[in-house]
Amino acid sequence: MEAPKEIFLKDYKLPDYYFDTVDLKFSLGEEKTIVSSKIAVFPRIDGSTSPLVLVGQDLKLLSIKVNNKELKEGDYHLDARRLTLVSPPSGAFTLEIDNEIYPHKNTSLEGLYKSSGNFCTQCEAEGFRKITYYQDRPDIMAKYTCRIEADKSLYPVLLSNGNLIEQGDLEGGKHYVLWEDPFKKPCYLFALVGGQLESRDDTFTTRSGRKVSLRIWTPAQDLPKTAHAMYSLKAAMKWDEDVFGLEYDLDLFNIVAVPDFNMGAMENKSLNIFNSKLVLASPETATDADYAAILGVIGHEYFHNWTGNRVTCRDWFQLSLKEGLTVFRDQEFSSDMGSRTVKRIADVSRLRNFQYPQDAGPMAHPVRPHSYIKMDNFYTVTVYEKGAEVVRMYKTLLGSQGFRKGMDLYFQRHDGQAVTCEDFFAAMRDANGADFCNFLLWYSQAGTPSVKVISSYNADAHTFSLKFSQDVPPTPGQPVKEPMFIPVAVGLLDSSGKEMPLTSVYHNGALQSLASNGGPVYSTVLRVTKREEEFVLSDINERPIPSLLRNFSAPIRLETDLTDSDLFFLLAHDSDEFNRWEAGQVLARKLMLSLVSDFQQSKPLVLNQKFVHGLRSMLCDSSLDKEFISKAITLPGEGEIMDMMDIADPDAVHAVRTFIRKQLAQELKTELLSTIESNRSSDEYVFDHPSMARRALKNIALAYLAALEDPELTELALCEYRNATNMTEQFAALAAIAQNPGQNRDDVLADFYKKWQHDFLVVNKWFALQAMSDVPGNVENVRKLLNHPAFDLRNPNKVYSLVGGFCGSPVNFHSKDGSGYKFLGELVVQLDKINPQVASRMVSAFSRWRRYDETRQKLAKAQLEMIMSTNGLSENVFEIASKSLA
Ligand code: PHE
Ligand code: ZN
Repeated sequence: MEAPKEIFLKDYKLPDYYFDTVDLKFSLGEEKTIVSSKIAVFPRIDGSTSPLVLVGQDLKLLSIKVNNKELKEGDYHLDARRLTLVSPPSGAFTLEIDNEIYPHKNTSLEGLYKSSGNFCTQCEAEGFRKITYYQDRPDIMAKYTCRIEADKSLYPVLLSNGNLIEQGDLEGGKHYVLWEDPFKKPCYLFALVGGQLESRDDTFTTRSGRKVSLRIWTPAQDLPKTAHAMYSLKAAMKWDEDVFGLEYDLDLFNIVAVPDFNMGAMENKSLNIFNSKLVLASPETATDADYAAILGVIGHEYFHNWTGNRVTCRDWFQLSLKEGLTVFRDQEFSSDMGSRTVKRIADVSRLRNFQYPQDAGPMAHPVRPHSYIKMDNFYTVTVYEKGAEVVRMYKTLLGSQGFRKGMDLYFQRHDGQAVTCEDFFAAMRDANGADFCNFLLWYSQAGTPSVKVISSYNADAHTFSLKFSQDVPPTPGQPVKEPMFIPVAVGLLDSSGKEMPLTSVYHNGALQSLASNGGPVYSTVLRVTKREEEFVLSDINERPIPSLLRNFSAPIRLETDLTDSDLFFLLAHDSDEFNRWEAGQVLARKLMLSLVSDFQQSKPLVLNQKFVHGLRSMLCDSSLDKEFISKAITLPGEGEIMDMMDIADPDAVHAVRTFIRKQLAQELKTELLSTIESNRSSDEYVFDHPSMARRALKNIALAYLAALEDPELTELALCEYRNATNMTEQFAALAAIAQNPGQNRDDVLADFYKKWQHDFLVVNKWFALQAMSDVPGNVENVRKLLNHPAFDLRNPNKVYSLVGGFCGSPVNFHSKDGSGYKFLGELVVQLDKINPQVASRMVSAFSRWRRYDETRQKLAKAQLEMIMSTNGLSENVFEIASKSLA
């Protein structure tokens, strides 16, 4: 193995050669596939004859021709990673390459591989080099044709990007198809599928009258489960027209579901390939969460057609240009299809539970990373979720219309181009004549900014002052940070809970009017840009209670001087629903941290009655949305609390969270029971907001009650399990029962498996539920499950369920005897030989080992060192493990 090489953004160079057209030919076979490519090459600078470097991996080169003449040894250099044409002709030329690949042996699921007998491809980020020699970089955009030949009975369906322009039969039971994609694209958007598949067909007519055929492909028996995916696709197409004026640009849109896929889904031009779990759903087999994920991801991949495909990234450092923007778009889509507040709460929780820890650990990187060893390792919550927050801040600063203007200008300027994050920034700025001062720092500085606010009311002057101070913590390679541009949305409540009018603000020595169109405003966005800065609101006639960072207007950690009673007041009255939830969360976090410290000092745990009362009033408030209530009575995750501690103590956090849950269940028993009663329904399953909200509230009530281990309540949960007519309620009941070790748990788990063993997606839920369990010594169960006949280390979904699930449960993974770490260490070594991308995702569970006590540190470090000393380690795992140890 060559020593892993780090690649830097600052080293970006324009390519010496561009590709105009690419004609590919695949002859798919059982033992080998032959790939032929014919590329029209031209130099960037006329007359240049610098070497042309192509990359390729795991390929067998058969021949190379330039302008129809076969090249001899010496005309080119070939090594394990590169094919270099030493002195290409000057001017444009044709390059033809034939090579062989072995898809049936490809367990990395990158390049061309087989999934359940069908051929499929995955090229992002750098997988095209496993198909043929190429300039595998996104700024090489070309027009493709793709001819596929294969056995007709084994592979009746042959798909690629664009339009089908020719097909026919060949000798020996074979057939061929020819696809042509009229749009220029980078090779990471190339796709091919071949196999036994059937399609659910539908159509969508764009607002300018193009009739688009929509096809969702799966094995025949799964077709009934594609209805929701089709509904989601049509909803996404309509939404993008309504909200962004963006229409689909071809006559055909295909989605293929495959069971073996490293990620969620892939936006290949007009041929999206999906992990089956994000396509297949029926009320009996998929939960509301699955339905919502399908809606969001179908939307996400579809939205990439404009944000990613028509306008793509210049280089992989710009990944967030397409991913942050497209996540933002899918979040907005889901908000419009369901509850905006609940979606925002879910997204912010995800950010706090996963992105904040990443931003505070050894893998912290900016939204636009400065370097990488393996790009696969940078498909992260930072690039995706924090990137989406950055896009959201433009919208917060510009308003909906200003944001739309910026988007329009972005497409007007860059359609058909490979561009950078600055280009997006410039479009937003120029379309609005906006002053974004140092906003670009959001792309280059890693770490979550901490912001403190101190407020004071001046009764004589009728002014209310907010003093901000900010600090961005050091991260690897960035010891010192500049202050950032942080939009803070604020409103003020009077003592009756009403919104107070905001007329003007004094800032930087100037008084600025806030009134718009002559009327007062009730919420405004303060532009915090300095290390320390004061804003003074005038005409404030009584001491207000400030509602700060409304709708989570920036991805920061906010510390305020609000008292508990202010927070209870906001919880009850804030007109910003997100901040109502947030007030409850701040209270819960404080409470949990103080109980954690009691627990560590062996003091008895006592639950604050005001907290119980606050949650009781949420639970009983019939004016509130039920899904909102279910979020409001959910405690912050264990990860979120550990992230706030100096030394993370998984046992204490777990004990405290369990204690509070039980205590709440005890105190709110009557209300929780009646919540279950009044939220049962015998109606057929519908995926709409009211029904989902009802199920969510009922399910969380059941989870609380079952935690009490009271036989009557367990019986209630068993009853719910038996009577459930949809997976959402059945699985929630199963999970409620499985919280507690014992015979009931074992019986129900066995029953569930028996019922669903034929459905691999449901079996994965069953794996995950057991893996995440906090029953003591669970590592042994998980080891046993590795040998379960339904488990397979080669299938990423199964690994994510069982191994990922286990690492996501703090008590057992961080068990003080090191058994969890040992389990993961061994597994990573084994998995790395099969699928480096998946192994690398798993090894990330170690990356924050320094956050724990000394005993745990030693144990985790030993595993990381063991992994590092393994022969033939992949670059993927090498990068994460070595950075974790650094
Ligand atoms: N680009 C895919 C997305 O929509 C993610 C992906 C990356 C899939 C790499 C496969 C490989 O987010
Ligand atoms: Zn994406």
